[in-house]
Amino acid sequence: MDIRTRRLRSSTILRQMTRETRLSASSLIYPLFVREGQGIEEPLPAMAGQTRYSPDTVAKGVQAALDLGVRSFLLFGIPASKDEVGTSAFIEDGVVQQALRQLKQQFGSDAYLITDVCLCEYTSHGHCGLIIDQNVDNDSTLPLLAKTALSHAQAGADMVAPSGMMDGTVAALRAALDADGLTDVPIMSYAAKYASAFYGPFREAAGSAPQFGDRKSYQMDYHNSLEALKRIQLDIDESADVVIVKPALSYLDIIAKTAEMILLPIAAYSVSGEYAMIKAAAAADLVDEYKLICESAVSIYRAGADILISYFAPELAVAIQKGDIG
Ligand code: PBG
Repeated sequence: MDIRTRRLRSSTILRQMTRETRLSASSLIYPLFVREGQGIEEPLPAMAGQTRYSPDTVAKGVQAALDLGVRSFLLFGIPASKDEVGTSAFIEDGVVQQALRQLKQQFGSDAYLITDVCLCEYTSHGHCGLIIDQNVDNDSTLPLLAKTALSHAQAGADMVAPSGMMDGTVAALRAALDADGLTDVPIMSYAAKYASAFYGPFREAAGSAPQFGDRKSYQMDYHNSLEALKRIQLDIDESADVVIVKPALSYLDIIAKTAEMILLPIAAYSVSGEYAMIKAAAAADLVDEYKLICESAVSIYRAGADILISYFAPELAVAIQKGDIG
């Protein structure tokens, strides 16, 4: 058989016309770190090129990305003080709440603001939930996550993204938001989140490494894929609006299987370690950074992702604009 797919590669315009995978800057989400304080714009050593802001400076990061075509942001907070129950996560004047009010005032609906809802940055022990007898206790954590999500939404969050992997989180958040009349605030759930070494640079950036043990009791074992599908289905049943698969590059099979199974948008989170590896390899002159950014992002969409959460979002928006991808 003579399948001349080669003919479809004969010109740049034709190659772009016949691309099977399409991406647009509107599907990109850019994570930003906001730390308690003032006038802060500090580079993150573990994530070259990324910056930690304070609530009064984070608009600069948002503006720079908006200028390149990125419109959605995922905010992570680093509080001034931590305690056993993560109080700073849900106080009205918490760092994320301050940033939200600031950004909403400045950008209104031009920037879509999503918040990470988890306790690990706010607890003294660094775990994503309350500790009872040395274990993370699922059910007593849920009301605190619900309070956190509610205070984010009240401060202006457009969408909330629970990342703690506690069972029943989506239902708890939905009930709290609805009871407050915030029925239109969607939930993007980290439904399939693996216990991964790829989160290393993030934990340094957010100061959220567990002080004892690991997260294997609540994050998933990377030997499993059925478990991911089951968790995704459970979150959908609890009325999640978008589901996240995380990390992305080593989990393309999970993205592909999820895409076959569900009718909701799938967001892939290309995490800090994926970012740092490309940065480090490029800094050592081993790879072409721009080409690697493009190729890895497209592979995630090709697998079935509809949305990409990436620290390379600004670079990707530019690559899409230039027609190199998308
Ligand atoms: C908080 C959270 C983590 C990430 C996103 N939300 C860290 C973790 O679970 O340890 C990782 C993001 C990244 O590595 O870029 N639970």
